[in-house]
Amino acid sequence: MIKFECDYSKFLSEAELSERIRQTGHFVWLSQRSTKGGWVDWPVNYNAAEFERIKKAAEKIRSDSDYLVCVGVGGSYLGFRAVVEALGGERGRTKLIFTGNSFSARELEKVLDQIKDADFSVNVISKSGTTMETAIAFRFLRQRLIERYGAEEAPKRIFITTDDESVLQQEIAGNHYESFAIPHNIGGRFSVLTPVGMLPMAVAGIDVDQLMKGAEKEREALIYTGGNATKYAVMRNVLLERGFNVEVLANFEPSFKYFSEWWKQLFGESEGKDGKGIFPASVIYSTDLHSLGQYMQDGQRIVFETFVESEQTEAEQIVVPIAVSDIDELNYLAGQKLDEIKHTVAQATREAHEAGGVPVMRVIMPDISEYSMGALIYFFEMACALSAFTLGVNPFNQPGVDDYKVKMFRLLGKPGYN
Ligand code: PA5
Repeated sequence: MIKFECDYSKFLSEAELSERIRQTGHFVWLSQRSTKGGWVDWPVNYNAAEFERIKKAAEKIRSDSDYLVCVGVGGSYLGFRAVVEALGGERGRTKLIFTGNSFSARELEKVLDQIKDADFSVNVISKSGTTMETAIAFRFLRQRLIERYGAEEAPKRIFITTDDESVLQQEIAGNHYESFAIPHNIGGRFSVLTPVGMLPMAVAGIDVDQLMKGAEKEREALIYTGGNATKYAVMRNVLLERGFNVEVLANFEPSFKYFSEWWKQLFGESEGKDGKGIFPASVIYSTDLHSLGQYMQDGQRIVFETFVESEQTEAEQIVVPIAVSDIDELNYLAGQKLDEIKHTVAQATREAHEAGGVPVMRVIMPDISEYSMGALIYFFEMACALSAFTLGVNPFNQPGVDDYKVKMFRLLGKPGYN
C-alpha cells in the first residue's frame, strides 16, 4: 500500500482532521457513481478477454517490429510513457516511439527518419478520434506503412485504441484494423490502466498483470479503510485554504520525469477550472536543486511540496570509490552506496525546505516495481478525484480545453468555423 506522511498538527487539530477525512471519504462514492467514474472499479471489473487479446497483439508486435509508434496525446499518452520510463524502459527488441503529441514538423520528421529502415507497427490511441495532432501523425504513418508493407499487410500493423462511439470506428470497420476499447465511462487522464496504456506497456515488456494487481490492492485499501489518498486530498485542500496554491511534485529519480508529466496533467485538467485549483508543477532533484532549489527554499511562500519516494534502496548498487588523492575531499563517503546517499540528500532537502516554510508531504511506494506503479497510479487518481470534489469542481470534464480549439479551427479555416 502507498504510504503518506505529513505533519498534520501544524495545520489542524486531530478532531478537524478526522472530520475532514470523514467528509472527503463520501466523494469515493460520488466518483464511483459518476458517468466518468468507471476507473474506480476498473482494477476488479476490467475486460479480461480483451486483456488477453492485448497480450496476444503485444506478442505479435514484439515478434515483428523494432518499433511500436504510439500516436496519442494527453491522457492517451502520458500515463504509459510514465510507467515504462519509471520502470527503466523497454525490455526486449521492440522500442516505443511517441508521436502525435505536438504540431512540430521536426519532431515528426525525426520519427519518420527513425523508422525509415526499420520494421514497425502503429498504435493510434485517441478516445475521441478527432484530436488533430494525433490524426495528422496517423496520416503520415499509415502512408509509410503502405509504402513499406503494401496495402494488404499495412492494416495488420495498425492497432487502434478508441471509444466505441468515436469517429475512428468507421476507419476500423473499413480497414479491419485490430482495435481495443477505451471504456465510455473512463476519461483520458484516468485511462492508463485501460487498453490505452496496456498495449504499449505490454509491448515494452511490462508485467501488466502485476500493474493491475497493484491498482487492485490500492483500491481495496481505499474503498474499505479510507486509505491514504483521502488524507493527501484533505491536506492539499487545507494547504490551499492557507494560501499555498502551487504544489510541486518532487522526485529524486530522473526516470520519473514523465510520471510527473502525467501527474501534472491529471491534477491540472481535473482541478483547474471555475477560477479554482492548485497549480501543479514538478522538479527532479538533485538536478533541480541547482535550479529551482533556490526558489523552493527562499521564494514566495505559496508553494508546498510532495515528495514521491521509494522505500527500498536499489538492489544493484554503485559504491563511491576511494581515491588516492582526496582532492575533492570525498573519501569520507568511500564505500557508501550511491542510492543510500540519494536517500540522505532527500531527507536533508525535505528538512531544509520545511525549515524554510514549505509544507512538505511524502507519498511513499514500497519499491519501484510494476505492482507499486499500479498502486501509485490508483492512489493519485483517487486523490485527484477526491481533491477536486472537495474543491467543488467536476474532476472529469475539461471545458477550458475547447476554447483554444474554436479559435484554432477558425484561424486554420475549418469549414463551419468562420
Ligand atoms: O484527459 C483528457 O481527457 C485529455 O487529456 C485527452 O486525453 C487528450 O485531449 C487526448 O484526447 P483523445 O484521446 O480524445 O485524442
